[in-house]
Formats: sequence, C-alpha cells, structure tokens
Amino acid sequence: MTTPDNQDILIHTEAAVTTITINRVDKKNSITSVMYAALADALDSASRDAAVRVVVIQGHETIFSAGNDIRDFLDVPPDHADAPVFRFMRGISTFAKPIVASVCGPAVGIGTTLLLHCDLVYAGDNAAFSMPFVNLGICPEAGSSLLVPQLMGHQRAAEALLLGEPFMAETALEVGLINRIVPPSEANALAQRQAQKLAAKPLSSLIETKRLMKKGNAAVVAERIEEEGASFGRMLSEPAAREAFSAFMEKRKPDFSQV
Ligand code: COA
Repeated sequence: MTTPDNQDILIHTEAAVTTITINRVDKKNSITSVMYAALADALDSASRDAAVRVVVIQGHETIFSAGNDIRDFLDVPPDHADAPVFRFMRGISTFAKPIVASVCGPAVGIGTTLLLHCDLVYAGDNAAFSMPFVNLGICPEAGSSLLVPQLMGHQRAAEALLLGEPFMAETALEVGLINRIVPPSEANALAQRQAQKLAAKPLSSLIETKRLMKKGNAAVVAERIEEEGASFGRMLSEPAAREAFSAFMEKRKPDFSQV
C-alpha cells in the first residue's frame, strides 16, 4: 500500500497491520476533501487486501484532529453522497476488520465521531474530545446523533452535542468511548501492540465477531449517517454556518443573534 503524494495522510502496512497517520500538524490535522479521499481509499484497500488484518488510526502526540478543514469545506462542500467525507464515513462505519485508534490532544468533530466506529481506542492523558457542530451552525455527523446518546445517555450527550462542550480523557474512559489512558508518548505504541495481538488471531473469527457485535445497530447507523449527511450538506450553506465559518477564518467570535 502506498502513501498519497501530499503526505497529509501516511499509510504504512507491516505485519498484517495497516497504520493510517493523520499528518498535517501545522493545520492541527484538520482534514480536507483530498485527505478524506485518501482515508476512504486506504480503508477500501485494507478491506480488500487479505494480508491486512487490522487497521490502526493515529495522529500526532499533540493533536489527533481539529476536524474538517473549514476553509476546504467552503471551497469544496460535500454536497453529494459520494463526496470524500461521506465515502470515508461509510467506509469506517462498515469496516469489517478490527480498527484500533490512538488519540492524543484535541479530537474535534470527526476526530471524535470517527472513534465511535473504532473497536479499541487508546488515549493520551492530553486527549480532549469535542463535537461542536451546533457552534458551527451545522448538525452531528458520522452517526454521532445516534451513537453518542446510546453511549452516554441523553443528558451527557446534550452537553457534548447541544452545548458542544469538550470532555477530557477521564470522562471518555468513564462513558466507554476509550479503553485506556496512557502518557501521550506511549499511546501509538500501545495501539500497535494491541493491533499485533489482534493480528495474531484468526481473521474469520474477528470479522464474524465484530459483525455480530454491530448487527443490532448496523442498519440504523447507516440510515442515520445518510440522514445526518443530507442535513449537514444543506446546513453548510445556511446563514448560521456561514457566520460560524467566517468567524473562524476571521479569528473572531460568531454572532448568531440574527440566525
Ligand atoms: N480548519 C482549518 N484550519 C484549521 C482548523 C480547521 N478545522 N483547525 C485549526 N486550523 C488551523 C488554524 O487556522 C491555524 O492556521 P494558521 O496558523 O494559518 O492561522 C492553525 O491550524 C493552528 O490552529 P490554532 O487554532 O492556532 O491552534 P490551537 O492549538 O490554538 O488550537 C484547536 C487547536 C484544535 C483547539 C483549534 O485549532 C480549533 O478549535 N480548531 C477548529 C476546530 C473546529 O471547529 N473544527 C471543525 C469541526 S466540524
């Protein structure tokens, strides 16, 4: 498997484990449509390649991901079902083999919601999770409007999704979003060790067990991702999102008094 030319997404396969590294640290690992396409392609290849048994997704010790690249979102809005961001969401939410994630530093928007589709998640003690969709004038994505309330209960989900308040690694551990908290310098190595353990197990059993574990929710998750995507795509061009995105780029607080 090869790494795309631009180096913002690194892909490395070794000993049956494909490691995907989000590598755009100067922009806080925010994800552009080109990067979503690379992520979707990497998952697709890993899914087809019989030699790959496990995928690891990681960022940098200081930042997992600042979510969607806001400028890119305005330039290349995901306004159709095959837009790279939706391809990525479908790919990760239906990925049959195990996915292990290592998360350090901020995990904003998709940086948190993609974890809902991973099987094992290890976090640095500096991890900070947030889903500030409302603060951006948009709505949840990647099935998070379904999966976050299922995970945390409605009231805690409301703090995360309506107020858009961040929560730290201890809370993520308590609600079951992550498996373990370690020093940031150890998170990627731990994810690799756990991936190697999985890779030594019979792949057919891993795939069947994961399928059975997710079967109860699979259809509703797919349906919710589609419904959220339609709302998300529409809301991107509405006044609230336009104000939020302009404010971000102008480095000021948004004014929602008129929307
Ligand atoms: N889209 C585009 N650019 C982004 C970005 C994003 N989501 N997040 C960060 N960047 C850029 C900043 O504009 C800045 O670029 P500049 O150096 O050209 O000015 C650079 O990355 C560094 O970001 P900065 O905000 O200065 O870093 P920080 O350490 O103070 O804060 C975050 C880190 C992640 C907390 C903060 O960047 C943030 O909140 N980002 C936006 C998150 C967001 O709303 N994502 C959308 C979710 S749908």
